[in-house]
Amino acid sequence: MGTRVGKGASNERLHRLRQGAAGSGYDGAAPRCRCRDDVRANVMMGRAVRLVIGILALVGAGTLVVAAWLMSQGISARTEPGPRETAVARRLRAMAIPASARNERNPISSSAEAIHQGMEHFADHCAICHANDGSGDTEMGRGMYPRAPDMRQAATQSLSDGELYYIIQNGVRLTGMPAWGSGGEHDAEDNWRLVHFIRHLPKLTDQERDAMKALNPKSHEEFRQEEDERRFLEGEASKPNAAPAPHTHGHGGETK
Ligand code: HEC
Repeated sequence: MGTRVGKGASNERLHRLRQGAAGSGYDGAAPRCRCRDDVRANVMMGRAVRLVIGILALVGAGTLVVAAWLMSQGISARTEPGPRETAVARRLRAMAIPASARNERNPISSSAEAIHQGMEHFADHCAICHANDGSGDTEMGRGMYPRAPDMRQAATQSLSDGELYYIIQNGVRLTGMPAWGSGGEHDAEDNWRLVHFIRHLPKLTDQERDAMKALNPKSHEEFRQEEDERRFLEGEASKPNAAPAPHTHGHGGETK
């Protein structure tokens, strides 16, 4: 062929290619293919490297934005979480609850007795943050980030029984909500009764709320004062001991 370049030459090469000349001594087609593969591999590698660098740059920029936001906000729990942050956090929490848990049904049927037992339990363990009426309006509930929610509202009442139970059992990470499913004093049945009581919260009566007050945990000081008053009323002592003023922190933190 020499330097001949023309239609005849290209036809000849095409013919050989069609015949599958690879391996038959023809050394034109095979190296050409390998070369194309190499080029393609190089292009892909280049894209992958650019993608990784892009992702790293995005992560870096995101970290800087979050760090700048945290520094501008500080780490105080005083600020009220914004509606968007609350919506995102609740969405993430919902996604983290397995579907099997969400669809679980309350094995304890609802009855006045089950609600009453749930109520006693709630007054003893939960009201310190959630308040007896479930409003979350307590010194601790108001001071948390996120706040203890008003459980009488639709946002809580629209959760399934399974979701409520899962939250009580496992708590919510990075919030003040503890896990109560240790298998100890709080067993599964107690927690399912608490679910019945949470459903009852929007209908809680004043009498029930007053009955709960008597079950709220008391500080040593409150207990002593009440004992003194009781003895005084029963005529055991001339007047209540001049007990030191109860330790209130002056924040008006009373469990409703
Ligand atoms: C130390 C404070 C604290 C105690 C005690 C506490 N909780 Fe909570 N609870 C929280 C906070 C804070 C949240 C909000 C968590 C969030 O935003 O994901 C919460 C959320 C919940 C929720 C989810 C409601 C919703 O709509 O987000 C349920 C149900 C719940 N608590 C039940 C209970 C029960 C039942 C008890 C007692 C056995 C209890 N909690 C004790 C602080 C507390």
